[in-house]
Amino acid sequence: MKRLIVANWKMNPQSPKDAERIFGGIRRTAVKLKKIETVICPPFVYLSLVGIVGNRVSDKRLSFSLGAQDLFWENPPAGKGSYTGEISAEMLKRFAVKYVIVGHSERRRHLGETNEIINRKIKTALKAGLRVIFCVGEKERNPNEDYLRFVKEEVIAGLKGIQRKFLGKLIVAYEPIWAIGKKGSAADAPEDILQMVLYIRRILLLVTDKDSARVMPILYGGSVVPKNAESFLRNAGIQGLLIGHESLIPKDFNEILRIAEKIKTK
Ligand code: 13P
Repeated sequence: MKRLIVANWKMNPQSPKDAERIFGGIRRTAVKLKKIETVICPPFVYLSLVGIVGNRVSDKRLSFSLGAQDLFWENPPAGKGSYTGEISAEMLKRFAVKYVIVGHSERRRHLGETNEIINRKIKTALKAGLRVIFCVGEKERNPNEDYLRFVKEEVIAGLKGIQRKFLGKLIVAYEPIWAIGKKGSAADAPEDILQMVLYIRRILLLVTDKDSARVMPILYGGSVVPKNAESFLRNAGIQGLLIGHESLIPKDFNEILRIAEKIKTK
């Protein structure tokens, strides 16, 4: 399986010109790679722009895909879209979007997204044929191991009632909140991530099935920079990375892509 390197641009950049520049800068490197699938998740308003640029060159190796940062929890039939400000799974699909991030901690925190809302969004996205990058992660690594219970609850509630046939389209992203946005200075340690990955697989065993618990891709996100990317990919038992800040700097992001390409997949 290809490794996934996902760029979450969040609410950046502020101009379409910059979006096109960053996108072009990353795509040039990404399309040449054989072992990596690069996914760019821009803000909704740039999806058509980067989608069109992206489609200009056909990508036979499937090394490059488009993702969205969110979607609405229902995919209403035509003419029933009275949800001001929202974007449906159907709309995303028509813009060649393949992946969607659901449950990012910033949406949980600033937009009040609950485990129940996230569960509905995951179901809607999967039913529409999108691949879901489902984010979980604790606020702090407290010594009494409360954080393990917290992550367990997020995984169980988020995946409640997901039909078996959709499990192959699910990806879990472990993003400890305390490690996000620190530009490399506070990333988690590879050994600790490995423990969390194994822990998440144990929880997956409770809510999915043996095969899914074993092979479902798990990504790490939180202050990934070129300097620490190799050690995460080699030692943390992950199948890819979810990258915020560095995904807006083509030079750094491309370096991470090249590092990932060079490491053997197991
Ligand atoms: P940073 O890479 O900026 O820490 O952000 C991580 C993240 O939240 C990706 O979704």
